[in-house]
Amino acid sequence: MEVVVAGGTGLLGREITRALLGAGHQVTVASRSKPEKDPIDSRARWVRGDVTEPGGLVEALAGAGAVVDAVQFPNSPMENPRKGFTFERIDLQGTRNLVDAARTAGVGYFIGLSGVGAAEGAEYPWLRYKWQEEQHIIASGLPYTIFRPSWIYGERDVALNRFLGFAKFLPFVPVVGDGKTRINPLYVGDLGAHVAATLGNDAAKDGIFELGGPDIMTMDDVIRTALRVAGKRRFLLHSPRPLMKLAAGVIQFAPGRPLTPGGVDFITMDGVADTSALTATFGLPLTPLEQGLAAYLTKS
Ligand SMILES: NC(=O)c1ccc[n+]([C@@H]2O[C@H](COP(=O)([O-])OP(=O)(O)OC[C@H]3O[C@@H](n4cnc5c(N)ncnc54)[C@H](OP(=O)(O)O)[C@@H]3O)[C@@H](O)[C@H]2O)c1
Repeated sequence: MEVVVAGGTGLLGREITRALLGAGHQVTVASRSKPEKDPIDSRARWVRGDVTEPGGLVEALAGAGAVVDAVQFPNSPMENPRKGFTFERIDLQGTRNLVDAARTAGVGYFIGLSGVGAAEGAEYPWLRYKWQEEQHIIASGLPYTIFRPSWIYGERDVALNRFLGFAKFLPFVPVVGDGKTRINPLYVGDLGAHVAATLGNDAAKDGIFELGGPDIMTMDDVIRTALRVAGKRRFLLHSPRPLMKLAAGVIQFAPGRPLTPGGVDFITMDGVADTSALTATFGLPLTPLEQGLAAYLTKS
């Protein structure tokens, strides 16, 4: 089947592309610009598609049997309203534009990436937007599958690798908050495998699946495990969340917006996926954290 992966140059998009190609599909990656320095898989085609420009999307999706929405704004979760990089504009409205274009283009299937905790009355706006995205997909009339992944790690992630990056030149690893945030980290390869296993799987049609790894742990334990697998011993230095939110109020004006108050909330929120429906439907393995980390941290 011809599948368009919107946002196929990103962390999840690349893995989804790889898994779809491995399953024998033809893949077209759509994004705003062709990544010349870090090319996509040579077996995939690239097309320009910007989810904020609905006009061009229909053409980008023409002829596709399915579309996967793996779009996110640069430097997420640090929003930059001046550049238009917000959850509301890219995540919510971008998904609406992509769904509408898929319908117009006659695409036969829509795979959405939401997030664990998406709910109408969720505490944080990004989780309410994710829920609204889901509603738009459901209302479109297109056959769909929606995944709600938890916190994802892998060779290219910018979260866990940041902690490991600190460990290269500091005797400690700085952690925002008390480190007690509860997550079940998901290996990015498992995300790709589940997306690829969706197409042609009637049981996955019109379903919403929470997707997370088998280990429910605190953020501190995740970082300690990563340090151990990487062969490093460092202590964790916590900074209180309220203090970091205050600091982020200033830091957000620094070049590159390294931290925003909303970003502090995002990275310290709990996110534990209940994988019972996922496992019953797909029956695929979920990689334990140590094993997932070893796949890329210990290779020579
Ligand atoms: N990472 C996680 O832990 C995680 C967890 C749960 C859910 N998710 C969800 O998974 C999805 C993908 O996340 P990710 O972490 O893979 O993001 P990412 O690595 O930042 O990749 C984002 C992708 O979107 C593209 N993009 C950005 N703006 C665009 C636009 N206006 N139009 C079209 N493409 C655009 C980027 O390419 P260009 O910049 O070249 O356009 C890139 O290919 C998001 O919906 C996210 O909420 C992620």
